[in-house]
Amino acid sequence: MSDLAGRVALVTGASRGLGLATARALAAAGAKVAVTDLTAPEDLAHEIGGIARAQDVTSEADWAATMDWVKAAAGGLDILVNNAGLWLFKPITETTLDDWRRLHSVNVEGVFLGTRAAIPLLAERAHLWRGGTAIVNLSSVAGLQGAAGASCYNSTKGAVRLFTKGCAVELAGARIRVNSVHPGVIDTDMGRKLVDDFAAAQGAGNNEMLAQVSAMHPLGHLGEPRNVADAVVFLASDRAAFTTGSELVVDGGLHAG
Ligand SMILES: NC(=O)c1ccc[n+]([C@@H]2O[C@H](COP(=O)([O-])OP(=O)(O)OC[C@H]3O[C@@H](n4cnc5c(N)ncnc54)[C@H](O)[C@@H]3O)[C@@H](O)[C@H]2O)c1
Repeated sequence: MSDLAGRVALVTGASRGLGLATARALAAAGAKVAVTDLTAPEDLAHEIGGIARAQDVTSEADWAATMDWVKAAAGGLDILVNNAGLWLFKPITETTLDDWRRLHSVNVEGVFLGTRAAIPLLAERAHLWRGGTAIVNLSSVAGLQGAAGASCYNSTKGAVRLFTKGCAVELAGARIRVNSVHPGVIDTDMGRKLVDDFAAAQGAGNNEMLAQVSAMHPLGHLGEPRNVADAVVFLASDRAAFTTGSELVVDGGLHAG
């Protein structure tokens, strides 16, 4: 598949999990991929013929430098994937203001800063493609429904969902499409941490909880990172040329019941 030949994509939080799988899938679809994380994902960049940089998504200055870097090294930007994120599982009564701010700083402010920083570059190249240029934000099923112990995470992912829609409307005139992806529990470090946290909270064994969490998804298992990566590639491509402000749920049916 070479749907994305000629395009430059940037994926944050790309060292592992969904960011890693998404970077690989975008590269397989023909894009030149710039990958960033707190430590530069150099090996991944080497593997996929991309470029790597260390970036903290909570830093405004780092976003400006990252845009300068991608413009200088790759000529511009066609696709931004705001993927970096943190998980928190704590009862609301135990959630500290620092917890709240740390999570919102990465999961919400990071998405805002990235979107704002990328708009000039995305607008510059939007005329090149039938479907314009694209931003894909990683929200979650937790951005659609609540879960005990996840209220802070729910807040961040709900914010990403509606921030996405506001941006979609505002940026349509510039031919920049903005969509969110809502995964169920996916088999990554974060997904496994969720299972462990649920197990600890309920005094269950980790394997027993893994079976329970798997069964919460009507398809009967955790998602694979590539399931989410494929959804991101679709939203980034001209196949989604008329899709903006949408929420693509990739959850094995979890939210459908
Ligand atoms: N795995 C799941 O079950 C699941 C489900 C729904 C949504 N999500 C969302 O998908 C995204 C990726 O999840 P994942 O499972 O790959 O998580 P993960 O924890 O495996 O990886 C997250 C990556 O983000 C990076 N990161 C964290 N803070 C950062 C910062 N300040 N600046 C730059 N990078 C930073 C980490 O270093 C890490 O490489 C997250 O936004 C997450 O909330 C995950």
